[in-house]
Amino acid sequence: MAEQITQQRILEHVQRLGELYPPITLDSVDRQVHDPRAVADKYGHVVDYLARVELEVDRNVLELLVLLPDVQEVDRLFYADVWQPQEIQHGLILDRLQQDLGRPATTPELEVSMKMKIMGALAHLSSIQDIARLLYYLTGASTERQAVLAYNVINEGMRELGETAIAETIITPIKQQEPGHFAFYRMSATAMIQAGELRPWQLYLARILREKTYNLVGTNGQDRYRAQMGGVVTALGFATDLEKYAREVGRIEAQLLWADHQGMEFPPYVLKALRESVELYRDRGFDAA
Ligand SMILES: [Fe+2]
Ligand SMILES: [Fe+2]
Repeated sequence: MAEQITQQRILEHVQRLGELYPPITLDSVDRQVHDPRAVADKYGHVVDYLARVELEVDRNVLELLVLLPDVQEVDRLFYADVWQPQEIQHGLILDRLQQDLGRPATTPELEVSMKMKIMGALAHLSSIQDIARLLYYLTGASTERQAVLAYNVINEGMRELGETAIAETIITPIKQQEPGHFAFYRMSATAMIQAGELRPWQLYLARILREKTYNLVGTNGQDRYRAQMGGVVTALGFATDLEKYAREVGRIEAQLLWADHQGMEFPPYVLKALRESVELYRDRGFDAA
């Protein structure tokens, strides 16, 4: 495996993110939109989806506290000082953008699900909590990677539409903050595997749980959001090559969780989730209840 990732290195990464990227303020945004109708037609539902997902960070923090009752200091530092303050601003800024486009505000889901509470009750056993922690990092790596890919495409698209204010004062600043989040989760998951923190039975259970519970970003285990995600994937042009997208999103996980499956480029459940989402979107459209 590549170079050793120490807790010190992860801590320094988190501190650097905090210094480099203060949360983006609403006032820093240039709200000029040349053609709101054209932007809404092309990206309205994508902006809505991303605004909701970003605003759900507050629920994600509650889930984290449930899942990791004995949270480590470096994890706490990351979510409390860097991640939540940055993501909530992404959400507020994108939600204001979509209202500037003449669309209704988004409605984030802020209730912690029963499934999560049950997992949280089990996580009081330290051997289970270690599994939950690895799954938390893998989920983070996968979802942040999806955010990076989405913002890259939207940035280009806004420039092509001539919407430079949106590209330069909204999407570019947001897009700069996502790779650091991805790196945190990638490094944290890698460090756990490298240090051999999980016994074989824990890794086995982690694989089963991951296979059963894998969700694309923001789908919250619900078909209506899966259909919407299919719409986002389609609008951003990823649906033409889902395997390529699955590779981008699932590579880290294939290397860390499925290391004994030589040559696996992405776990099969990633592609399966993508296919299901795109199919649901084709059947139901974006606004399925
Ligand atoms: Fe974000
Ligand atoms: Fe992020």
